[in-house]
Amino acid sequence: MRSLTILGSTGSVGTQALDVVRRNPDRFKVVGLAALTNHELLVGQIREFLPPYVAIADPEAAQELREMLGQNVRAVEIIDGPDAAERLSRDVEADMVLNALVGSAGLPSTLAALQSGKTLALANKESLVIGGELVMDLIKAEPERLVPVDSEHAALAQLLRGERKEDVKRVILTGSGGPFRGWTRNDLARASVKEALAHPVWQMGPKITIDSATLMNKGMEVIEAHYLFGIDYSQIHVILHPEGIVHALVEFRDGTMLSQLASADMRLPIQLALAWPERLPTGIAPVPLADKRLTFEPVDREAFPAVDLAYRVGQLGLTFPAVMSAANEVAVMAFLEGKIPLTRVVEIVQGVVDEHEAPASVVSVVNLERADSWARQRAAEIIEAR
Ligand SMILES: NC(=O)c1ccc[n+]([C@@H]2O[C@H](COP(=O)([O-])OP(=O)(O)OC[C@H]3O[C@@H](n4cnc5c(N)ncnc54)[C@H](OP(=O)(O)O)[C@@H]3O)[C@@H](O)[C@H]2O)c1
Repeated sequence: MRSLTILGSTGSVGTQALDVVRRNPDRFKVVGLAALTNHELLVGQIREFLPPYVAIADPEAAQELREMLGQNVRAVEIIDGPDAAERLSRDVEADMVLNALVGSAGLPSTLAALQSGKTLALANKESLVIGGELVMDLIKAEPERLVPVDSEHAALAQLLRGERKEDVKRVILTGSGGPFRGWTRNDLARASVKEALAHPVWQMGPKITIDSATLMNKGMEVIEAHYLFGIDYSQIHVILHPEGIVHALVEFRDGTMLSQLASADMRLPIQLALAWPERLPTGIAPVPLADKRLTFEPVDREAFPAVDLAYRVGQLGLTFPAVMSAANEVAVMAFLEGKIPLTRVVEIVQGVVDEHEAPASVVSVVNLERADSWARQRAAEIIEAR
């Protein structure tokens, strides 16, 4: 029985993680849940999973929650305040914390889980993009305390299990290409919010869905892979694979290539992370090989400049990735609000990265917070100026 804290329980990854728990009641026990705005769903989750601790940032919402739960669920302690998720992650005893928060808001909880000695199943890729050095420094001696949830990185973790690092020539992350694969830059400038939110393969939260439409998501995954597996950027490649069946490949120095194939269902990598290193039955249908054609194609780097931008900021290091991630969050929100066309998202991020004149080393959260708030403000100014 593994005890779990699930941060972002009302989101796409969070709800699928609870589905995994629901199917494996003898393996997992929920000891903490954290969410932000979806109170109704959270109440349902509390009633079903009876976690002893729940975190919700807004104190008024916390009070409402206490009243709603009332007589029936007395044993639940509600933690509130802006750092509620971080405190839950740090203070509540759990074998594993699943961080499925979205955006840079996830970093403090990632650090808290690792600093308090817990194992972290990490969906919140922004934690590694922004604070990769801080995060990896915390688990230098125990790398097994960080388990990836992202499907490509879960694939790599499986492919690299038991292999010698010096035998790896390169790793290849696949991406479906999102809803706009094959579109030109001109076409992309006219993409609507509705079209951008209609991902052909994965059902995900709005931020990652837009990141998938611009391929910023793939770019961030390159940085994530660099930190998780200690692989140089020159050895990390990206290829499009519209069917979403092959999640990653590894090429070894003898010319062998291994790949991981699975149906595009996030419950599989989530379950693998929660049960790591064990595999449990999922009920997810295996890939119907005879009915599938598997195709691969290069990324159109002109139409989707986010990939090269991510390589560039990854290689620059320091606070550049934090600036990219923060500016991207602001620009994605502006696109979702109809303020800017899709192509402006990466242009704005690129502009803010280019203006980042005082990069600092990532030795403390303070430097990251400073870079983050500067980038958010600068991105907002650029958006408002137009
Ligand atoms: N979705 C996928 O298939 C997928 C795959 C791979 C990686 N990821 C990564 O996993 C992370 C989560 O993605 P998602 O698609 O699940 O996002 P999502 O559906 O938008 O869910 C985000 C969750 O975080 C909660 N939240 C946001 N800010 C919070 C805060 N400050 N304090 C507490 N809770 C907060 C939200 O609460 P409310 O809903 O209550 O507001 C929600 O539960 C992202 O980093 C994404 O890149 C996702």
